[in-house]
Amino acid sequence: MTKYMIHGGKPLYGEIDISGAKNAAVAILPAALLVNGVCRIENIPQISDVSLVLDILHELGADIRVVNRNTMDIDCSRIHNSRASYDIMRKIRASYYVFGSLLGRFGNAEVAMPGGCDFGVRPIDQHIKGFAAMGANINVQGGFISASTPEGRLTGTQIYLDVVSVGATINIMLGASRAKGMTIIENAAKEPHVVDVANFLNSMGADIMGAGTDVIKVRGVDQMRGGFYSIIPDQIEAGTYMTAVAAAGGEVLVKNVIPKHLECITAKLEEMGVEIKELDDAVIVRRDKPLHRANVKTMPYPGFPTDMQPQIVACLCLAQGASVVTEGVWDNRYRYVDEFKRLGADIRVDGKIAVIEGVDHLTGAPIRACDLRAGAAMVVAGLAATGTTEIDCVYHIERGYEDIVKKLRGVGADISVISCPDAAEKQQVG
Ligand code: EPU
Repeated sequence: MTKYMIHGGKPLYGEIDISGAKNAAVAILPAALLVNGVCRIENIPQISDVSLVLDILHELGADIRVVNRNTMDIDCSRIHNSRASYDIMRKIRASYYVFGSLLGRFGNAEVAMPGGCDFGVRPIDQHIKGFAAMGANINVQGGFISASTPEGRLTGTQIYLDVVSVGATINIMLGASRAKGMTIIENAAKEPHVVDVANFLNSMGADIMGAGTDVIKVRGVDQMRGGFYSIIPDQIEAGTYMTAVAAAGGEVLVKNVIPKHLECITAKLEEMGVEIKELDDAVIVRRDKPLHRANVKTMPYPGFPTDMQPQIVACLCLAQGASVVTEGVWDNRYRYVDEFKRLGADIRVDGKIAVIEGVDHLTGAPIRACDLRAGAAMVVAGLAATGTTEIDCVYHIERGYEDIVKKLRGVGADISVISCPDAAEKQQVG
């Protein structure tokens, strides 16, 4: 078991390169199941969630060739298996994309129910509703979900999502890519990774229009062919480093980003007194004055992302005055707050609302990451806190941040990995 040790309270200076987007990669890799041919995929982040998806593809019979550190050739031409086993599937939420892709390719699929970060009930009823409307007979039993279609193929139809769901939007797009006829997804999610998956599918021969708006039209095709694709930069990874500079102070060039995808984060940080300059594919983040309070409400894109909520709370803990944060997506995303209190934060939570009274400084303490983004926020808080912060259970963080320690050390952070040989390695569950 490893921990991060941070000696905080030092401003950050230098440059950080942003990796490919986790939530695009964990959908694009399974999307290769729809393709007969080699997909060369570039800018794949080296994170443990990606390794899990690759393990699932490997188990299903995909031919995976590593071209270089972040590029792979994936060939699913010879896949014959439409059943994915429990052991890997339960560890990762995005395993539901394997279900949608297998169903699109074979007209039947069976996978274990997905796992993922625990922040309340995480239903997949909208995925099921979509596939059922497309003619699948779906059965959920014994921890598995299976589906079959009478004609061996999904059939296009009109689907209105009752909630804006990233997962359901992408999953239905995957299944619809090779369905018979046209599928129309209404009230679709508009996140950058939804658009990225649609662009990947189109470059492999799918026919998808409207991704990035709330109506997506997918005309099913009989075959999809191999090709090249490069995954977009990770909006949330970039946002996390932007908050690290906001919290610890300093000036950092955050490189390889799409500034448009960061606008919701940039606007909030500017409101808090952080100076941000947008370049073509980078942002310069500078903070040398005290932070101002701000209210934040998380919402589907283009609103402020729920996956940045814990990190912005880390900054607000140090802002002058009281801030109100409203979690608009998940039921239970404040489980990390008690850990922040150990650093001296003043936060009260009532349901989906957190009231944060800014304090002069945070003080280092031993804390424990409870999920991916909460863990990242603990790093942000630890960088700003005076003294030593030791973060346990960092396997949560490594699910989604490539080389976080190396990248932060590159901008002058005093952060290191320490191993604790006595502790049993904890099972990964995200
Ligand atoms: N929802 C339903 N029914 C469904 C699906 C979702 O009611 O069938 C509800 C959820 O309970 C939630 C809301 O709709 O309240 C949004 O859920 P969504 O389906 O959009 O979430 P997801 O696809 O499971 C993805 C990201 C999460 C991110 C959310 C919201 C991936 C692999 N995960 O999850 O990312 O928080 O969208 O943006 O793309 C993370 O990266 O740390 C992470 C948790």
